[in-house]
Amino acid sequence: MIDKETRIKIAIQKSGRLTDHSLDLLQRCGLKYTRARDQLICFGENMPLDILLVRDDDIPALVRDDVCDLGVVGLNIVEEARLGFQDNGPGEPFSILQRLDYGHCRLCFGYPEDGPVQTVAELAGQRVATSYPNVVADYLRREGIAADVVEFSGAVEIAPSLGRADAICDLVSTGTTMKAHKLREGETILDSEAVILRTPVDIPPAKQEWIDRLLQRIEGVMQVRESKYIMMHAPKSALGQISELLPGSEAPTVLPLEGRDDKVAVHVVCRETVFWETLENLKSIGASSVLVVPVEKMLA
Ligand code: PRP
Ligand code: ZN
Repeated sequence: MIDKETRIKIAIQKSGRLTDHSLDLLQRCGLKYTRARDQLICFGENMPLDILLVRDDDIPALVRDDVCDLGVVGLNIVEEARLGFQDNGPGEPFSILQRLDYGHCRLCFGYPEDGPVQTVAELAGQRVATSYPNVVADYLRREGIAADVVEFSGAVEIAPSLGRADAICDLVSTGTTMKAHKLREGETILDSEAVILRTPVDIPPAKQEWIDRLLQRIEGVMQVRESKYIMMHAPKSALGQISELLPGSEAPTVLPLEGRDDKVAVHVVCRETVFWETLENLKSIGASSVLVVPVEKMLA
């Protein structure tokens, strides 16, 4: 039995596109855990936090019902659940604490390449297959289009070739699935990424303190994800250009180089992706010995 007064329970997807990222995020926040034999609960060893591994579609209800304090799930599933819960009366079923900037994908219409329907407007009187019936129906209602929403729990992309639908609305990440099924990607109705949900119920202070700490660490992890520490030798006269080439960099540290009056050592933290092109440009303005190293932790 897990102590509900003091231990935080966080639900994450058991196996799917968010699983590895979500476990990795918690580990980067310092969590060490052991996985129970049934593999469904991971017990935190150094934080009062336990992980429940569940189906992603179940996460919104687990958080709404306060079975879990927190949940990590895609916005696509959050929105589908939120619209579904509206029938149960007013009041927010959960709140979104933070967007996590991974698991990016979009909910899009897909039209058979050689079919008559190629836009949302042409969907009037036609059938659209989806696993997101609430989101799609809500969108069509707002657009004023009367179409039949046919619910599929999986393999939505084969609905048109089975003669069960005239179009689909499904998640697209790379676009490979739609292309492979000769579907043309149409209008996007939702941009999704992983988010953290929080229960609507009050949380005891001892637990809340740990949640605040976790959120702060998550922010730190997100900040350093693309961050690099860059070191180089450069002509003093190029300092201005270097700052321009490295947007998002903090005020650089400039150090003298023994026996060199014209050149200095420059150290900068750059919060954006550093591309090869940038390094080549640095070289062309006279920088040499350029080193780019990853940043592991950052506390603002
Ligand atoms: C989604 C969607 C497609 C695929 C699209 O399924 O239903 O099958 O991903 O990705 P692509 O554009 O990169 O080809 P997902 O893997 O999320 O599984 P689920 O729908 O069963 O949750
Ligand atoms: Zn799913």
